[in-house]
Amino acid sequence: MDTPFSTLIRTASHEQHAEAESTTFMSDLLGGALGVDAYARYTEQLWFVYRALEGTAGPLASSPVTAPFIRPELFRLPEIERDLAHLRGENWRARLSALPATQAYADRVAECAQSWPGGYVAHHYTRYLGDLSGGQVIRDKAEKAWGFTRKGDGVRFYVFEGIENPAAFKRSYRELLDGVRVDELEKQRIVGECKLAFALNTDVFKALGEEFSSAA
Ligand code: HEM
Repeated sequence: MDTPFSTLIRTASHEQHAEAESTTFMSDLLGGALGVDAYARYTEQLWFVYRALEGTAGPLASSPVTAPFIRPELFRLPEIERDLAHLRGENWRARLSALPATQAYADRVAECAQSWPGGYVAHHYTRYLGDLSGGQVIRDKAEKAWGFTRKGDGVRFYVFEGIENPAAFKRSYRELLDGVRVDELEKQRIVGECKLAFALNTDVFKALGEEFSSAA
C-alpha cells in the first residue's frame, strides 16, 4: 500500500521491459546484425511517436496531473529531425511513413494526450525514462556500428543536452511520479496504460523485425 508509485510502475512493467528488450529486432540491432537502413527506419517510427507526445504539450501544461512532467529539456522531436536529415538526407520527410503498429502507438498516445492526463503520464514515463536509461546503450552501439560522431548527428535523439546529470534527473523524475496528483485507483489505471505502452513498443519492434531480418 505504501509502495512509492515510481517503484510500483517500474516493478509492474518489468516483464514487459524484458520482452521489448529481447525482441529479435532489438537484439539484432544491438548485436550489429543490421544495416544502418534498419536504424533509420526505426528512427522514422520514433518521429511519429514523439510528434504525438510533444505536439500536444501545450494543453497538457495546464493539467495539474501532467504539467510537472512537461519539461522542455526532454523534448526529442527537433533532435529526431536532425538525425533523420543526417540519415535520410534533407528530403527525409518525403519518404517518411508509419508502420501500422507505429500508427496504432501514436494514435493511442495522441488519444491520451487529448483526453486522459493519467494515461499520458504512463506514455511519458515509458518513453523518456527509457530513453534516459537503455537509450544510452543504443546510442553507444549505433555510434560504433555505423560510425556516427559521438553524440552527434544520427544519435542526437539519445543525447539530452539540457540534462547534465541523467541519474539525478531520473531521481527527480521518480519523485514527480511519487507525487502524481491522482488517487489509488487512477494509479492502477496508469500502471495498466504503462503495460500497454510497452506492448505497443514491442509491436513496433516485431513489425520492424518482419521488415529487417538478420537471417534475410
Ligand atoms: C535493448 C533495448 C533496451 C535496453 C538495453 C534497456 C535497458 C535499460 C536499463 C539498463 C534500464 C535501467 C536504468 C536504471 O536503472 O537507471 C532501463 C530502464 C528503463 N527502460 Fe529500458 N532498455 C531497453 C529498451 C526499452 C524500451 C523499448 C522501453 C520502452 C519504450 C524501455 C523503457 C524503460 C523505462 C521506462 C525504464 C525506467 C525504469 C525505471 O527505473 O522506472 N526500455 N532500460
